[in-house]
Amino acid sequence: MPPLLFRCSPLSRLSRSASVIGLLVFGSVTPAVAAFIQPARSDRDMVVSAHPLATAAGSAMLRQGGNAVDGAVATALAIAVVEPFSAGLGGGGFALWHESESGEVTALDFRERAPATAGRDLYLNAAGEPQSQLSRNGHLAVGVPGTVAGLYALHQRYGELPWARVVQPSRVMASQGFVVSDLLASEIAGNAERLAQNLAAAAVFLPDGKPLQAGEVLRQSDLAQTLGQIAVEPQDFYEGEIAKAIAADMQANGGLITQADLKAYQPIWRDPICGPFRQYEICSMPPPSSGGVHLLQMLNLIGDTDLAAQGWHHPNGLHLLAEVMKIAYADRAEHLGDPDFVEVPIAALVNPAYADARRQEIEPQRARSAEEVKASDTETLERYRNFKESNDTTHLTVVDRDRNAVSMTYTINGRFGAGVVAAGTGIVLNNEMDDFAIAPDTPNLFGLVGGEANSVAPGKTPLSSMTPTIVLEDSQLRMAVGSPGGSTIITTVLQIILNVLVHDMDAGAAVSAPRIHHQWLPETLRIEQYGFDRLTVDALEARGHQLQFRRGWGNANAIVVGPNGELTGAADLRGEGIAQGGR
Ligand code: DON
Repeated sequence: MPPLLFRCSPLSRLSRSASVIGLLVFGSVTPAVAAFIQPARSDRDMVVSAHPLATAAGSAMLRQGGNAVDGAVATALAIAVVEPFSAGLGGGGFALWHESESGEVTALDFRERAPATAGRDLYLNAAGEPQSQLSRNGHLAVGVPGTVAGLYALHQRYGELPWARVVQPSRVMASQGFVVSDLLASEIAGNAERLAQNLAAAAVFLPDGKPLQAGEVLRQSDLAQTLGQIAVEPQDFYEGEIAKAIAADMQANGGLITQADLKAYQPIWRDPICGPFRQYEICSMPPPSSGGVHLLQMLNLIGDTDLAAQGWHHPNGLHLLAEVMKIAYADRAEHLGDPDFVEVPIAALVNPAYADARRQEIEPQRARSAEEVKASDTETLERYRNFKESNDTTHLTVVDRDRNAVSMTYTINGRFGAGVVAAGTGIVLNNEMDDFAIAPDTPNLFGLVGGEANSVAPGKTPLSSMTPTIVLEDSQLRMAVGSPGGSTIITTVLQIILNVLVHDMDAGAAVSAPRIHHQWLPETLRIEQYGFDRLTVDALEARGHQLQFRRGWGNANAIVVGPNGELTGAADLRGEGIAQGGR
């Protein structure tokens, strides 16, 4: 059988021309582009993901009568094959499901958990010094994966097509192979040294000792076999042959995960975190992601400020965003962790009254230092707790013919995760343990710091920034959005939401628009190169912001419901993804 190529379905409308596909990558090498892409449009349904073949897999499920969950699961599994550096069976994530009939939103946590023998000092040497390379590379960096259990649980509860059918497209892609894109080739080349350390990873991505090149075909026979087993019995990953293979690989290489850890893994259904912003209801992921809490906190801090009257990207508005981001990330470092292990003051942090109080600190003409922007102490937050909130990574967004929606972000953390493929399985394993604060004030891969609340403990979930989000208006879907990008995810989602809800952009413009990012520490305001003109840059510098020009980050996608009910969908032009709408 020939390898799979990006193919445009005549039944669908795609959001970008073929010439854009593969030119742009997310991460540090992306040119920021001050241009907006045309969104895909449909009155029927829409799938958007980070790769054309994954979008096609999801769309195929919708065409076969499946719903948004069938589409999302098929898309996610396809991503595991065609974007092996970003997410996969060896990782975990979060999904939000909006059921149009009831207007309800449900959240699923299928994030990785720490193995039973992982403890607070796991990544400290004998002198008590943190060893970041151990939480990032190799078997010790791996958390117990949740992808298979999570996708299966989501499908069991809400899917309509048979499970084996939604697994089928990814299994075919893995066994027939597909043509390596510029992006995948550059990720393999950029990580070749790490991948060469692991025989099984090298066999897949460095055949004959050389990185796969763009245009070559990547066939993953072990992964195809694993997917075939999962199609028949997903629990095989946790209790069967696949579990045995992972545990054996761990034991042979100094990893911690045992068959008992795998058997114990459970995805967790959680209440999403929802709160009002203007006439909308914003629903996102609660802890152990920090995404929803700080997205709502930042929207509350913006409050009634009339950003639309100021005009899009007015320096006053950008300054406000930067100051709002600092407050949120300062609180994040202090208070956020796995709610099953530590008390997270969620209600206080998303209480509009708390935001009203903290907004007073913001100075309209002066950027405050990290020293000045403090996390709130626990006693202060106690005063606000009496508030009941209404109720390398990839993102995908799917809306079906009934306007049910899935917004899912999932990951193996860094590119190619721990740089390890579990021998005989084709599964790239995550390095999610690095999302714990391995020691107080030791920055993780994304420069985020944390303390006690996010320390390592057996069975604990590392804190995440992933922010799959669904926005409702009168209980009906208004938009669904999310992005990869580590620490930048929450601010990326914030800006896309503001672009749509405040500045009235369609999905294409909202996802393309240049972005800024501040995370309290380090003390720099990241701004996208070529995305801001000199006058704006001068105005920000005059307020004291330490600007850091960076090429584009994130690889967002979104589906937006327009005033006439039409869906517009777009994948980030910083990546190679695509939106496909049904007719
Ligand atoms: O959960 C988190 O916040 C991170 N592990 C996400 C990693 C990520 O987005 C990598 N993508 N560039």
